Amino acid sequence: MASKYQAPRGTFDILPEQASARTRLEREAAEIFARAGYEPIATPVFEDTALFERGVGKSTDIVRKEMFTFEDKGGRSLTLRPEGTASICRAYLEHGMHKLAQPVKLSYLGPFFRHERPQAGRYRQFHQLGIECIGTDSPAADAEVIVMLSTLLKELGVPGVELRLGSLGSLDARRAYLEVLKAHLHAHEGDLSKDVRERIDINPLRAFDSDDAGTQAVMAAAPTIVDRLEGEDAAHFAAVRAYLDVSGVAYTIDSSLVRGLDYYTRTIFSFVCDSLGAQSEIGGGGRYDGLIEQLGGPPTPAVGFAAGVERILLALGEGEAEVPQRKVFIVTANYDQAMELAGDLRQKGFPAELDLAGRSQKGQLKHANRVGARWVVFLHGESPELRDMQSGEQKPVDLANLVDEMTGAEG
Ligand code: HAM
Repeated sequence: MASKYQAPRGTFDILPEQASARTRLEREAAEIFARAGYEPIATPVFEDTALFERGVGKSTDIVRKEMFTFEDKGGRSLTLRPEGTASICRAYLEHGMHKLAQPVKLSYLGPFFRHERPQAGRYRQFHQLGIECIGTDSPAADAEVIVMLSTLLKELGVPGVELRLGSLGSLDARRAYLEVLKAHLHAHEGDLSKDVRERIDINPLRAFDSDDAGTQAVMAAAPTIVDRLEGEDAAHFAAVRAYLDVSGVAYTIDSSLVRGLDYYTRTIFSFVCDSLGAQSEIGGGGRYDGLIEQLGGPPTPAVGFAAGVERILLALGEGEAEVPQRKVFIVTANYDQAMELAGDLRQKGFPAELDLAGRSQKGQLKHANRVGARWVVFLHGESPELRDMQSGEQKPVDLANLVDEMTGAEG
């Protein structure tokens, strides 16, 4: 459908033609989350910068390059939130949620900010919807969280979605593995890109994400943690997979899967959609058993995901869905009667509009066409008439039967 709006000039505006698909998505997500016992939470759009430095990790691209950080009038450093998990863990601690029955299951939706180079599917202001299941290390929780995102994408009808699954092991296993990985990278330093070489000791996992050919060759032979999982870590990962199998959620094990945040332990996952091009991840997440402790709380295992609203809409082909057309436009010179009828129709579920600009009768009819009305009701004199704008047919109508007439002709 061609847009009636002028092309965007780099501002983040959600225009009316994009809003209804968003509303549907938000409604479905809220319903799916609520059905599984996830309760909505909202946290502020900006927080102390230290929260993200400690939570997301100082070595990550997000903290190093992508945060919108500013000083307030009291000299405090604040940051527009680049993600939601750290804020939700802060709220969990501040509100004493660790004293409630565990796990605490929360859902959220809202704007997030990252200073990235904008392109299709990547924006500086974007929206995420997500859930966090805090206070359990059960693999059933990992599976539930993954099934929730899978269900949402399925119910929305997002085509061509694939789930990639990996595990980073527990904090200790992850730490030990990182030493082995660093040794491998140091042994092949000469073949790595400058960026990866400079960050071997800071963030070696990112080397798996590199698009540099030399680095990719080194990484093809790199040890992976999935192949080295032992004991409880291996059992946890096996249990997550088994629960996904019984839930009928298909996945591929991706031993080179990495994520852009430092807090992950054990399960990590990513839902990708090929039609999205370079920014192919529609949503993802994982377990973060060390994060709450890192933020000053008691040891508290947790798992969650976030998905990009704009990316889901892109994958759905935003704006292409045909909304059933049942709008009624009331052409009249008698505004009292028209307002009463519009109110009555709206209450019965028919979008109804009337002229608000003092147009002539002819002008009103033209406007009805412009706003895409399916029906026009003419309230002139004693004998109202109904016009079906689709067929062009116009006939006298008894207002008491108006809704029946229109419903009967819908299809
Ligand atoms: P993330 O992978 O950084 O994870 O972001 C989650 C999703 O947000 C991505 O899969 C993508 O769809 C969307 N997204 C990220 N950056 C942008 C952008 N610049 N423009 C448009 N969409 C974007 C997190 O944020 C974690 N907090 C997820 C999580 C929750 N892990 C555990 N719990």
